[in-house]
Amino acid sequence: MRSYKAKMVEPIELPSREEREAAIEEAGYNVFNLDARDVYIDLLTDSGTGTMSADQWAAMIRGDEAYAGSRSFNNLADAVRDVMGFEYVVPTHQGRGAENVLYGVLLEEGDVIPNNSHFDTTRAHIVNQGAEPVDCPSPASRDPNSNESFKGNFDIDAGYALVEEVGADSIPVVVLTITNNSVAGQPVSMANIRATAEFARDIDAMFVIDACRFAENAHFIKQHEAGYEDTSVAEIAREQFEHADAITMSGKKDALVNIGGFAAMRDETVFEHAKQRAILFEGFPTYGGLSGRDIEAMAVGLREAVTPPYVHERVEQVGELGDMLSERDVPVYLPTGGHAVYLDAGEIFSHIPKEHFPGQVLVCALYREGGVRGVELGEFAFPGADRPDLVRLALPRRTYSREHLEHIAETAEAVMESAHEYDGLEIVEEPPMKELRHFSAKLEPV
Ligand code: F0G
Repeated sequence: MRSYKAKMVEPIELPSREEREAAIEEAGYNVFNLDARDVYIDLLTDSGTGTMSADQWAAMIRGDEAYAGSRSFNNLADAVRDVMGFEYVVPTHQGRGAENVLYGVLLEEGDVIPNNSHFDTTRAHIVNQGAEPVDCPSPASRDPNSNESFKGNFDIDAGYALVEEVGADSIPVVVLTITNNSVAGQPVSMANIRATAEFARDIDAMFVIDACRFAENAHFIKQHEAGYEDTSVAEIAREQFEHADAITMSGKKDALVNIGGFAAMRDETVFEHAKQRAILFEGFPTYGGLSGRDIEAMAVGLREAVTPPYVHERVEQVGELGDMLSERDVPVYLPTGGHAVYLDAGEIFSHIPKEHFPGQVLVCALYREGGVRGVELGEFAFPGADRPDLVRLALPRRTYSREHLEHIAETAEAVMESAHEYDGLEIVEEPPMKELRHFSAKLEPV
């Protein structure tokens, strides 16, 4: 069921096969270098690519563009307080701006930062502060075929093993990413949120939640965690944050906007320091690099994200795509995550060794076959990380219809049928920061 209809449409076009082949070669076999007009179905990301509601567009007209103390900022602060329960908020241009502001305040050189799994920009910002990011994903996440419910969890044992190794004094912050984007968009249970908070408290560290997809995570808790069946998504969403000291948020995900983000916290001193850093990197702390109208739309979106039936339909649609692919025997990571379906490229291209990027081969093949753009989250994006070569097909929110999903599934099926014809890729040009190479490196078939 869909509880919305389209009010505005944007034309899309499938270029001819010859055009697609020329475009991917020209792009150096890196879909970040493609022109979006050459893409038919764009599943590169769910970040800032969704459709806003009529209420959000109306809010944009109301946006207050005052440089300091705008009404729109107050509306955002109210929404963050109501929906997430934090007293202080520092708006930023997007999630990574919040990471820069908050981690710049909290971290020092030589610190070690555990997280269930760092997203790439989080990892890069922690490295940028001279600290070391360490992933502690749950052991269950390693099995792409088990249908267990909360494979995004933080492995508390791994957290304590890290403390043994580096000492609690080196760990000023423990981070938890909900949902776990780097582990196939898998959710984190409320029990694990509580356990991670206790771990942080035990070692006297701050507990920070990367809250990008907090509404989707709340939905999974409602669906699958005992005791939450009758609790509303809004209540669950708030409870998730009860034990956190601070959050970083990309509004481009579960605040349902095209741009925006914020850091929020309980401690006034951290807030004061964060504001100073925000002035340097983002803008005066009541606009944070955003226009008043963007802030206004984010305030409305944050509330919509936890208002039924939005998030139920959202996660259900992602599940539908997962089912369509599974029905065609395309190997997908199970269960389907909150914002994306992850394909196991290592299995599809078992004849291509890891160092020749089977994931990136699949990304290029999906584009060539059907003008579908996904993203690699395996050896190319996370060099040497010893993780499966997954390809993420992220669904923008409230944007594509069932016909689009069918086209995606048919495209993947066609790639599967000719998988043996594909060769691996090698990097021929890459930027200095290895953590960010997948955004701009160029490749060639081996
Ligand atoms: N944290 C997580 C878990 C994310 O998924 C992202 C962005 C960020 C932080 C940074 O937020 O983009 O607003 O600066 N993820 C996008 C993606 C880009 O495609 O998954 P941002």
